[in-house]
Amino acid sequence: MSKGTAGEYWAEPGLPSVFKHDLLSRYIPKFGGMTGSPSGEVVYLDGYAGEGRYLNGEPGSADRVLTVAAHHQSKGLVRWTCFFAERSAESFTQLEALVGAYRSRGVDARAFHGDVLGLFDEVLATAAGRPLFLFLDPCGLALPFDRLVDVLDRRRTTTGWPPTELLLNFSMMAVRRIGGNSHSPKGNERTNERLDAVCGGTWWRRFFADGYTHDADEKVAAEYSLRLGKATGMRMVSVPVTKGPGQKAVYNLVFGTRSNHGLWVFGDAHARARDTWWKGVELQEEAGDNALFTLAAMRRPDPAKVQQEAVPAIAENIRTLLWQGRPFKLVDHTVQVFGDFYGQVPETVVGRAIRQLYADGLIANDGKVSRIKNLEVRPLLRH
Ligand SMILES: C[S@@+](CC[C@H](N)C(=O)[O-])C[C@H]1O[C@@H](n2cnc3c(N)ncnc32)[C@H](O)[C@@H]1O
Repeated sequence: MSKGTAGEYWAEPGLPSVFKHDLLSRYIPKFGGMTGSPSGEVVYLDGYAGEGRYLNGEPGSADRVLTVAAHHQSKGLVRWTCFFAERSAESFTQLEALVGAYRSRGVDARAFHGDVLGLFDEVLATAAGRPLFLFLDPCGLALPFDRLVDVLDRRRTTTGWPPTELLLNFSMMAVRRIGGNSHSPKGNERTNERLDAVCGGTWWRRFFADGYTHDADEKVAAEYSLRLGKATGMRMVSVPVTKGPGQKAVYNLVFGTRSNHGLWVFGDAHARARDTWWKGVELQEEAGDNALFTLAAMRRPDPAKVQQEAVPAIAENIRTLLWQGRPFKLVDHTVQVFGDFYGQVPETVVGRAIRQLYADGLIANDGKVSRIKNLEVRPLLRH
């Protein structure tokens, strides 16, 4: 937890939570929509659920997913089975009350008091034959690497149906704290070993061989996501989450999917959640220190300008794909299509790039589709 006590933490969401929750609220309904057919069912685990709702009434992660589940259910879209684990008795009391309220509205929501590890068997049994989304958001170190790989790679199918996706909080504060002390007399070998378990080896220690250097934590986060991707066959995206502009990440959110659609939709959700985070920064600074506000405004990349720069860059990326000389679906080439702008701009920018290519007479599509990611681009000329 980023603030001192549970009481303080649950008073109102801090900026990292503003980003995390906005991302979750954007991505989760899409996950249900993308994977909820043909079975019409989805299983979700919030393994470190907390209280579910802040004292100021704002929704936490549990309230957010339950809102989606209740909405999908009322529309007859997808039936969600939502599991929540919470270890603290105090937080669990609040969580259980919230979950119970949704249960009384007919949502299949189950709260578990204890360590999330004790809930995995039940979640996996319930998720047999159904899509599963795991949201693992601890306040400190994440699950041991082997346990995570066991669930993602061995106990779930790795190809085809049913899909499994992950959103994991990887604590950069813990990496900096433990790594920074790992070679000093202040260091504690048992704490180092806990990080070994989370990282799946002692490899992280070499990044701190000379003590803490400014980007050692970022190198560890990048290597962690690479290794988790290799061990599970998932595509991983690791995004830093900070308390303010120019600050070090409090944690990275590590997203894992085996789906091209998941990768596309996550990038879009990320770009939009970044905007929400910036609005949060501005609101916070308007309410407080004007000097800081000016600083943030100066640092904020102008979204319109970023998008303007992204259109020709993305059009060029699509042009490169046109060299194959045959039709292709945008979503099957998410990384190539967005290039450096992946997660930085929403998918609407791809629509603008498509319209530009159409106007230039390079493709047969005018970009008028309901879902741009599903567009099959048809080249008009050989390039
Ligand atoms: C960062 S908070 C959760 C925030 C919540 N996911 C949200 O976004 O609204 C982490 C929570 O995990 C709980 N926790 C820590 N270790 C746990 C464990 N092993 N199993 C279940 N819950 C745990 C803590 O008590 C705390 O409430």
